[in-house]
Amino acid sequence: MQKTWLKIEGGSPLNGRISIAGAKNAVLPILAAGILVEQKLKLENVPQLLDTDAMVSALREVGVLVEGSGVKASGGDTLELCMVAQPRRLPSGAHSAARNIRTGVLFLGPMLARFGWAQVCLPGGCQIGARPLDLHIWGLEKLGARVLEKGDRIEAKGRLRGTDISLPFPSVGASENLIMAATLARGTTRLRGVAREPEVADLCRCLRAMGAAIEGEGSTEIIIEGKNSVGLRGATHRLMPDRIEVGSYALALAATGGSLILCDTPPREDLQAFFEQLSLCGVECIEESEKIGEGVRKNTRITRTADLRAVSISTAPHPGFATDLQAQFTAAMCFAASSQGQVVITENVFENRFRHLLELQRMGAKIDLRGRSAYLSPQGTLRGAAVRASDLRASFSLVIAGLAAQGTTTISELHHLDRGYESIEAKLSACGASIRRIEAKKTKATESINTESMAISREPQRTGNSIEKIASIAS
Ligand code: EPZ
Repeated sequence: MQKTWLKIEGGSPLNGRISIAGAKNAVLPILAAGILVEQKLKLENVPQLLDTDAMVSALREVGVLVEGSGVKASGGDTLELCMVAQPRRLPSGAHSAARNIRTGVLFLGPMLARFGWAQVCLPGGCQIGARPLDLHIWGLEKLGARVLEKGDRIEAKGRLRGTDISLPFPSVGASENLIMAATLARGTTRLRGVAREPEVADLCRCLRAMGAAIEGEGSTEIIIEGKNSVGLRGATHRLMPDRIEVGSYALALAATGGSLILCDTPPREDLQAFFEQLSLCGVECIEESEKIGEGVRKNTRITRTADLRAVSISTAPHPGFATDLQAQFTAAMCFAASSQGQVVITENVFENRFRHLLELQRMGAKIDLRGRSAYLSPQGTLRGAAVRASDLRASFSLVIAGLAAQGTTTISELHHLDRGYESIEAKLSACGASIRRIEAKKTKATESINTESMAISREPQRTGNSIEKIASIAS
């Protein structure tokens, strides 16, 4: 198996343009919506991500036909999918592709709605928390399904009928599952306390294009008139741009300084709370229009206008500060001037979303974790180190730290990063960053070099050149 890591020389400001890809957290539920259609659902602006590929593999496993250039990162960005026959049972045990992707659980709603039967794999608990499915199951049972856990599988049966459901927590995934289930239920479903994330709204727009009767997305109540028919119709849907990618690059800029134009960005209100906090940090985000051929494209210009100021934040469901930007924000705050005193970063959505702190501490960050809050004393800078990614957004927080730190940083376990960020080295290199992906065949020599570089990062930091020497040998 090939060992790969990123090697970053820190200290360069970012200046240039970055194209924003289609939203990962929109494409995954919308791919599941392909189960609802017998004619083709055509998706455009599909991001080339490991998660997209994993979801396509899981869909094919249950019998969904998927074609198009948007698979296996082949450079295209369209997919066409439909389900023309009854779903297939999942292969037994660990061989199922559906075990590799948590959002396979989103097959439950559409499969039940259309076929009166569904079977999904229980997803593994992610590094950021237990991530139970109780709200998904409870809501589907309120719609009339009988749901059973059988080993590592969930099976559901029943003809769905519309009803009123008040979610005790605005779970994004549970909202998406129930919205898709309700599109073909008999009668009206009122979903109260539903997630207001823009990605949920993008799913609703796509379902409406497929003939579903849905209104209220973005508010706390969504009403769905079930169409008790064999399925929805084919449609074409262009995925919304990825607002978390926008926030991630904006925070990289906050840490390094400079000026970026992020191209093809979502409406400002999709990140209102985030932009307000970023403005308090001394980073300006201005929406611009750019003429592209016959059309106009929305861009966002991000500029650090002064020294980075340290600001405290608390994450919350949308429209609050997005939990998916907490790790990146934490990394950026390490580079605020040390004269500013401690800031507090509180994570209210997931119970274990601070795994990046240990790696940032290896780079010299002064952060104490107490319960759900990280108490951070800005240092003005960090020092490069060999660090290890632990989950998707934590990976990007280490990229931010490496870009702004003094010296060389190497980041391993890159599969976490590749799940949700497209062409990261190319995008950052084009804006002046020194960032390279190093691939080394796993041999005895290389392995010892890598192990040694890992060992260094776990002891008091030696000078950067020892990592540089090791990384250069290994590269
Ligand atoms: C979606 O995950 C996103 N993933 C996550 O992004 C995002 O962090 C999260 O929403 C919150 O915005 C996708 O859209 C693919 P939840 P999801 O259900 O649906 C608890 C990323 O980095 N909960 O809103 O799994 C749960 O444990 C990923 O791109 C229950 O208790 O999130 C968590 O504490 C990470 N029971 C909280 O709710 C349930 O049945 C939020 O979970 C479901 C959830």
